[in-house]
Amino acid sequence: MAFPEDFLWGAATSAYQVEGATTIDGRGPSNWDVFAAQPGRIHAGETADTAADHYHRVDEDLELMAGLGLRAYRFSLSWTRIHPQGDGVVNPSGIGFYDRLIDGLLERSIVPLVTINHMELPQALERDGGWLERETVDRFVAFAVAVHDAFGDRVRHWMTLNEVPVTTWSGYGSTSFPPGLGDPSRVLPAVHHQLLAHGRAVREMRRRRPENAYGIVASYWPVTPASRSDADLHAAELLDAAYNRIGLDPLVHGRYPAPLLDWHHQRGGASFLEPGDVEDLTCPIDFFGLNYYGPIHAAAGDPGSGGPFVPSGLGIDQLAPDGYQYTASNWAIDARPLLDVLRTLRDEYELPVVITENGAAFDDQIAADGHVHDHRRISYLRDHLCVVQQAIAEGVDVRGYMVWSLIDNFEWASGYAKRFGLVRVDPDNQDRTPKASYGWYRHVIATNGRALADAALPV
Ligand code: FCB
Repeated sequence: MAFPEDFLWGAATSAYQVEGATTIDGRGPSNWDVFAAQPGRIHAGETADTAADHYHRVDEDLELMAGLGLRAYRFSLSWTRIHPQGDGVVNPSGIGFYDRLIDGLLERSIVPLVTINHMELPQALERDGGWLERETVDRFVAFAVAVHDAFGDRVRHWMTLNEVPVTTWSGYGSTSFPPGLGDPSRVLPAVHHQLLAHGRAVREMRRRRPENAYGIVASYWPVTPASRSDADLHAAELLDAAYNRIGLDPLVHGRYPAPLLDWHHQRGGASFLEPGDVEDLTCPIDFFGLNYYGPIHAAAGDPGSGGPFVPSGLGIDQLAPDGYQYTASNWAIDARPLLDVLRTLRDEYELPVVITENGAAFDDQIAADGHVHDHRRISYLRDHLCVVQQAIAEGVDVRGYMVWSLIDNFEWASGYAKRFGLVRVDPDNQDRTPKASYGWYRHVIATNGRALADAALPV
């Protein structure tokens, strides 16, 4: 059981979470800058003004990638570094920064995988209604075409958007992401406009360069019902529709999941489909970018119920059952459901897969010997990679695997408290220290995964 020889062993980051440098070289304000500056939004009042300072340390980070032997690196483009006001007027230094990054990757034989937009919006567009407005669809398509024109000669793998359902439930359905609306009846329209933006952008990019590969990224959280009661089964089905199916069914099957549409209309949510939309949504994609972290356990609750991943409004409780280990983010650790997800992507959606994120936050400490012995992260990654290997052996077309994340970074509303990196970043001076998982992953890559079977891996 081997990984294909051209398997894309990689690691991932996103612009807002690592770059910092939010006010220099012509970058315009993003909705996250404004949101993070509001008291009480982010853990300990932190902001991403510095983040991991990747903007200034891009050469050092390229060397860390080369030292790891990465074959691929997934990163995203800051919309307001390139279109500061979201209106199509280009900031040349923004293009220049990503030119340097992309050329630095190619010089090191690392394949760039670009996410056009990872959970951010220019504040100028947010102010005008953000993803509730169809105008934002056109703005996004213009941005996608501009960056594709600039980098499409060197970047072959393009992903339009990251985790539309998570971003939208968190920002429109609840208040933990911008714009912090807390109105679940706005979720479906905001999702729809993003999926429309995705489909139209893919069509435009493909028209320009049919040889490139185009996809979208979403997380998939398999939902386990608390019992076989009708109420719990219905809760699990609704949550699966709201978090998982909503991101793929419209793109592949041209329809939103029925339980979710019923729920939306019962709440008095406005209709959002216009003639021609379905055709745009279903523009074919070449691959699906899967982010997998773990399963969610759900039970029927009262209208005010919720949980870290379950906004109130759905009437669903999120449970944290015994018998699991949990990461520092309180996410249940279980690699086995990943196999079912990969089978579903093959059987039901018939899409090749790149695993665009997988990883875990733990309370990493620097030991007296100066090292970070993050053995729990190693065992998490190993277990998930073994499942990926099994899926490949079963014929699932998995083309690559990206660890989230290359470096510790700004974990949205959790600030710097949740550390996912293979490389530690000192929160005070941004110094980099590779963790034990970095050496372990290097060995896995160097052996094209054969080292996964090795009981005595160097850590
Ligand atoms: C995913 C996001 C990514 C990061 C990880 C931990 O939902 O895509 O930006 O925050 O979770």
